[in-house]
Amino acid sequence: MVIIRGATTVAADTKEEIRKGVAELLDQIINRNSLTKEQILSIVFSSTSDIHSYYPAKAAREAGYAGCSLFSAMEPEIDGGLALCIRVMLFVEKELTPHHVYLRGAKVLRKDLTSIYNIAIDGPAGSGKSTVAKQIAKDFGILHLDTGAMYRACAVKVLEAGVSPDDEAGIINVMRDVRLDVEYENGRQKTLLDGRDVSEEIRLPHVSLAASAVSRHPSVRMHLVEKQREIAAKMSCVLDGRDIGTVVLPDADFKFFLTASPEVRAKRRYDELVAKGHTVDLEQLKEEIVLRDEQDSTRAIAPLKRADDAILVDTSEMTAEQVVAFVEGKMQEKI
Ligand code: DC
Repeated sequence: MVIIRGATTVAADTKEEIRKGVAELLDQIINRNSLTKEQILSIVFSSTSDIHSYYPAKAAREAGYAGCSLFSAMEPEIDGGLALCIRVMLFVEKELTPHHVYLRGAKVLRKDLTSIYNIAIDGPAGSGKSTVAKQIAKDFGILHLDTGAMYRACAVKVLEAGVSPDDEAGIINVMRDVRLDVEYENGRQKTLLDGRDVSEEIRLPHVSLAASAVSRHPSVRMHLVEKQREIAAKMSCVLDGRDIGTVVLPDADFKFFLTASPEVRAKRRYDELVAKGHTVDLEQLKEEIVLRDEQDSTRAIAPLKRADDAILVDTSEMTAEQVVAFVEGKMQEKI
């Protein structure tokens, strides 16, 4: 037997809205887990104490969930808790990896159980970290810190100074007076190098390779890791990178490690760059990705590596939406 969890919020405490909310939530759980109604043994609902107009269990029965046992309970009122929220637990007779489903206002983590929390998402280039981290930050209303962008900005500085990414002494010199800042505009990270917005420039392929080379040096890592920890200590955020779960925040509340095949990752980068109007060669991108994997995972300090307690997600066959739903479900499951 498997237990699947879910929650949603409803627009108002009316019979109509409760019936609509319950039907939508159960139907999505059924669809995302490829279930039939007959495989459900029992459904237990709890709802926040501002819901009085209708029993969620009755709404489920009316939505066609008639063959299983149903139960509704009311939750105590909790300071800072969600309003108009219906939570559900389905007991299912099928062996599967459960996909928990959180809709509408229930996408955020329970405020009564979480204060400041950090989510670490690590993985190689093109594994989908950045896309997924962005969406999670939006859903939970927290900050997204793209740590790769910081290494990329350092690479721009090093390249502009005419220093080779392999020249440790030259890099130490350059890092002495680098000013690196991240700012947020409508939830989007802006990366500033000595006050100049380099958010677009840092995405160019030659910067990718230089960033990977520059990030090998302890002087660069020390500088950036400190900045990343400072930001994460102040507010809830989702950080994506290579060493977040292992080095930057080994005690992060949630840790994920995303992977995908080199072919899939190269194609994603290709589509991203082409959409921005760049002319790129798919084969060359693939070679660069393989080279970067090699550089990032074999370096002496903070190599790209899954933390023992990070959840591994192979995104090769998944859409970004599926990865987000999986990651958010795992987080809800943990609290
Ligand atoms: O995630 P990205 O492709 O933007 O990262 C660019 C490079 O920066 C990557 O090849 C290795 C380095 N990096 C790192 O060493 N540690 C991080 N936390 C993030 C990125």
